[in-house]
Amino acid sequence: MKIENKESKGEKMTTHQMACLVLNDKPFKKGINLHLQIIKMDDRFLKQIVLLLIFIFVHLQNMNAQITPFQYQINKKAEGVNGAVVSAHPIASKVGIEILKSGGNAFDAAIATQLALAVVYPGAGNLGGGGFLIAYTNDKKILALDYREKAPSGANRNMYLDSAGNALTNLSQNGHLASGVPGTVSGLFETHQYATLPFEKLIQPAIVLAEKGFVITEAEARNLNNAKKEFIKYNSVTPVFVRDIEWKAGDTLIQKDLAATLKRICKKGLNGFYRGKTARLIIQEMKRANGIITDKDLRSYRTIKRDAIVSDYRGYKIIGMPLPSSGGLLIQQMLGMISDYNVSALNYQSPEMIQLMTEIERRAYADRAQFLGDADFIKVPVKKLTSPQYLKERMNDFTPGKAGSSKTTTHGVIDPESEETTHLSIYDKWGNAVSVTTTLNGNYGSKTVVGGAGFLMNNEMDDFSIKPGVPNLYGALGTEANAIQPGKRMLSSMTPTIVLENEVPVLVIGTPGGTTIPTQIFQSLINLIDFKLSLEEVINNPKFHHQWYPDVIFYEKDFPFTTIESLIKMGYECKQRGPIGRTEGILIKKGVIQAVGDKRGDDHAEAF
Ligand code: DON
Repeated sequence: MKIENKESKGEKMTTHQMACLVLNDKPFKKGINLHLQIIKMDDRFLKQIVLLLIFIFVHLQNMNAQITPFQYQINKKAEGVNGAVVSAHPIASKVGIEILKSGGNAFDAAIATQLALAVVYPGAGNLGGGGFLIAYTNDKKILALDYREKAPSGANRNMYLDSAGNALTNLSQNGHLASGVPGTVSGLFETHQYATLPFEKLIQPAIVLAEKGFVITEAEARNLNNAKKEFIKYNSVTPVFVRDIEWKAGDTLIQKDLAATLKRICKKGLNGFYRGKTARLIIQEMKRANGIITDKDLRSYRTIKRDAIVSDYRGYKIIGMPLPSSGGLLIQQMLGMISDYNVSALNYQSPEMIQLMTEIERRAYADRAQFLGDADFIKVPVKKLTSPQYLKERMNDFTPGKAGSSKTTTHGVIDPESEETTHLSIYDKWGNAVSVTTTLNGNYGSKTVVGGAGFLMNNEMDDFSIKPGVPNLYGALGTEANAIQPGKRMLSSMTPTIVLENEVPVLVIGTPGGTTIPTQIFQSLINLIDFKLSLEEVINNPKFHHQWYPDVIFYEKDFPFTTIESLIKMGYECKQRGPIGRTEGILIKKGVIQAVGDKRGDDHAEAF
């Protein structure tokens, strides 16, 4: 093995940090030469030996000394003029940027980055999940790809109810029955139509990372340890994520079964996943417990090209995902409701500002619960829900300074007629912008790994309304519109977004976070457009969220407490919660491409 030291200025990475890809210099069959961070195998062994010696020494001396925990060097911000990639993991971002450097476009990089995430970020990166892609090409075409999971043909609206009609959320959230038919691999091949490099080249880094292993971060070690009991409970074939000793930062995770699955996809394309051995392994896994995904369900899975939702806001065009994601529509509703207000006259994060946004969010999410679902299965009054007149009327009962109530403010009146996910943002030198949000739903999805195939299945069935009035994993309520039906896609909140100014992209953005996703994107747009915050501030400043029910303003630690106190005085219930989302953004301004990764995780930005 040799070292390819392709580090750019300011992002130096030592061998000891090992924030690099363990890549084979004799790549899988096709002899593809990727210019990725490569470490000397010798150095790796050397490091292990040194660590072992330190360990023995510390114990022999019975000292209380602490070994510095392993840390990746993470770039939170990167600038360039040729392209940028920002994703939830440093290795994945590096894979993406190297694809751009080797002449690939943003679609190539989006495919390679997602595949790398499926290996290095198993909590959310995936083969067994689904996602949405929004793109804007340099010839001014908008693309919206829906590769959301769908309900298996054997699904029915009562499948998560016991005989007394009680909701069995454990079944919709964990294990075999929680999975929808996965869409990711189909989505990657659909995306490939817009790419320029062979798929084999794009999947190669993921294969090597799975086969040779990669060094895990502290966050990944913690997450794997936390999920151990569930991995044991929901698998009869013990996955590689389970081992006797605790995971720790710096350990190497090798995923041979996953590598073999990736190789089948590399060799056979879609059939390497939806048919043949991988499909058989999925069906066998389903049969080991109570899973219902069939061979036919897999064979019939298709990505759907949809018409993106385009909203105008103060001279900008906001491109978002249509149903079955609620994201684009909620953004359109929320921007529509706020557009009549002189936002910049209010202070950033002032009580008045947060109250206005909260009341807007309350109304949009009440409509979400009542009206939104897969529009291929139910009639959704999209036109009415987004009409300026309707949105104006929705704010008629807004009283500044006084808390509204979700008991009295419910969904709008429509005439009969008529919450681990991950996001990546990419921009290339030709001006193509790609925004992808992909997920297994919860952290590590259903926790079930397909035996022999090495990838986790999603628990996306929980995004359906399993019973009216029963909140899902993210507290979202739903009704008939989002009830389970065979083949239907469950309502999503994922909001991959691209913003145009004068028909050229100025922002590529998205985030995980379940139902908080649309309100996060709403905040990001307001804070960027109205309050002129920097992209770093937009992404890293504390956020808040309201989603109709529960009737609570959730806020992150460090949110200005004087604002919270004022909101409480107005009559709001406010609760501090853990981190909200992990936004990945790219801002394009005067030819400079600035990528920023969220401070809340291992998120990493690359540019050149
Ligand atoms: O599609 C949805 O809305 C959810 N399945 C997304 C889940 C998610 O964002 C989890 N991340 N923290």
